[in-house]
Amino acid sequence: MAKKIVAGNWKMNKNLQEGIALAKELTEVVKNPNCDVIIGTPFIHLASVAEVIKGSCIQLSAENCANKASGAYTGEVSAEMVKSTGAEYVILGHSERREYYNETPEILKEKVELALANGLKVIFCIGESLEEREANKQNEVVKAELAGSVFHLDAEAWKNIIIAYEPIWAIGTGKTATADQAEEIHAYIRSCVAEVYGAEAAAETSILYGGSCKASNAPELFAKPDIDGGLIGGASLKAADFKGIIDAWG
Ligand code: 13P
Repeated sequence: MAKKIVAGNWKMNKNLQEGIALAKELTEVVKNPNCDVIIGTPFIHLASVAEVIKGSCIQLSAENCANKASGAYTGEVSAEMVKSTGAEYVILGHSERREYYNETPEILKEKVELALANGLKVIFCIGESLEEREANKQNEVVKAELAGSVFHLDAEAWKNIIIAYEPIWAIGTGKTATADQAEEIHAYIRSCVAEVYGAEAAAETSILYGGSCKASNAPELFAKPDIDGGLIGGASLKAADFKGIIDAWG
């Protein structure tokens, strides 16, 4: 069975003090969850938040890493640097980075490889735009995104990949995919994984849903057989809201 996960993606929110305060609050309210709990924070928060969550059930993720190993790349943060903070995961392929920072499938492939080489697990995001959904192209879009950046990995490396399906039209819009819509494409994504890595590996791959997921809709989404949890933006910025989603796992 795939691991159940609720992961937060703070995006570009919270200054350092606010981030530390939120992490502290989470360590106080999230106890014995029935799923893995991960928080994705900006780079500058990582080392401090790693200290705050030490010994708790909360795990840490970066929201990005460089596509180069090291050297003269002013302003970039390498996978090795991320790992050295205590973070164990990195979110890659988010639609906001693909769109606003021109991250191509080739660049993402480089980032994925560096992340894995440095012992990070990757939360790899895929998902179609509204236009693509309206043209009924969502399946081909997600398959191409997987083929373009992660399906070249060998079976051993694949064990460190978590997929997050995030329809772009549902991110930050308050418009959630219905549980049935999400389940349909999650099942398709799992079938794509099975084609490459086999049915057993596909069953063990965590596939998260992201896009206006909140405490009120999480139970219905998480009840679906191919939805193994959520990648949460807005509702990860308040401890009570995030805990409400974690509690959807019972
Ligand atoms: P929202 O939960 O704010 O819609 O964001 C989802 C997301 O992009 C998580 O990565």
